[in-house]
Amino acid sequence: MVNSINSPFRYAGGKFYARKLILAHIPQHVHYIEPFAGGASIFFAKAKVGFNHLNDIDEELMNVYFMIRDNPEGLISFLRKRSEDESRIPERLTLDTNCGDPLPAKKELHKFFKNIFEPINDLERAGRWFYLNRTSYSGIMNFQNMYWGYGDRFSMQPKNWAQNIRRTSKKLQNVILTSDDFETIIDNSPDDSLLFIDPPYYNADQDKFYNYPFTREDHLRLQGCLRRNSNRLLLFLTYDNETDIREMYSWMEEIHDREWNYCIQRTDDQKFKTDRKGERYKGKELFILNYHSDYIELNNQVQLRLLA
Ligand SMILES: C[S@@+](CC[C@H](N)C(=O)[O-])C[C@H]1O[C@@H](n2cnc3c(N)ncnc32)[C@H](O)[C@@H]1O
Repeated sequence: MVNSINSPFRYAGGKFYARKLILAHIPQHVHYIEPFAGGASIFFAKAKVGFNHLNDIDEELMNVYFMIRDNPEGLISFLRKRSEDESRIPERLTLDTNCGDPLPAKKELHKFFKNIFEPINDLERAGRWFYLNRTSYSGIMNFQNMYWGYGDRFSMQPKNWAQNIRRTSKKLQNVILTSDDFETIIDNSPDDSLLFIDPPYYNADQDKFYNYPFTREDHLRLQGCLRRNSNRLLLFLTYDNETDIREMYSWMEEIHDREWNYCIQRTDDQKFKTDRKGERYKGKELFILNYHSDYIELNNQVQLRLLA
């Protein structure tokens, strides 16, 4: 069974809109690993296999995955209105909400979680992160660039968060979750694993989005690490379309230019004071593979049809 669901998070650089194109290039496998998981759109879109591993250096992000996997009801309860004493959220911020109802998506509550609330345990850290992720512009979780960005018509509404968390928790059962540097994960991947590798872009201003810088040395380190493991792993790498990257990976089997269309619904976010709706964008990336993908597109038709 494919059991395709959407990522629980909004995630900068997420591959949600490219998922069908990406799945069309993925061969059969029994071990699946994402060393740069982020919102893990591809893991959630594809069928689970015998061994699944998600890793990201961002511990705050991985803590939320842990909580969704192991304590979904605790997280759901954190995201519901409780008494002021119990939740430490001032009553004025949740007025008009009954006890037990989901916390409302409100600018003031976003501000409170961003600037004032101090989590005292992992569950509270995860709850705060989840609330901010679902209500921030483009899901950007770098606090310097985090702005309110929720709209009832195009964001997942709080009344649906619990169902989303439960569904995600099911898919995360038995999935290995870690928060390490990519090199440790890749060097220790079991032979014949398929790795979906989606590092921060080479040329875009990634430090705005993520909490860990990824320098030119890191890009070179990644190349070296993939090269030394290439004879024992199946590698699918995505990157921005840059000459440097093409040169760096000229030793791989296939490099494809791929494009896809997508639409972003924007809200009246604080920073940009705009109400532009449904802007059209084009995703353009390189798909770089160390295997031949010619025969795969046919094999994957059934899976893609189920996703449609
Ligand atoms: C482009 S995003 C991945 C997006 C993901 N594929 C999705 O669909 O949402 C890149 C991720 O790499 C992570 N990252 C940055 N440096 C890393 C490192 N040294 N090791 C592992 N992960 C790292 C970032 O925290 C970020 O979540």
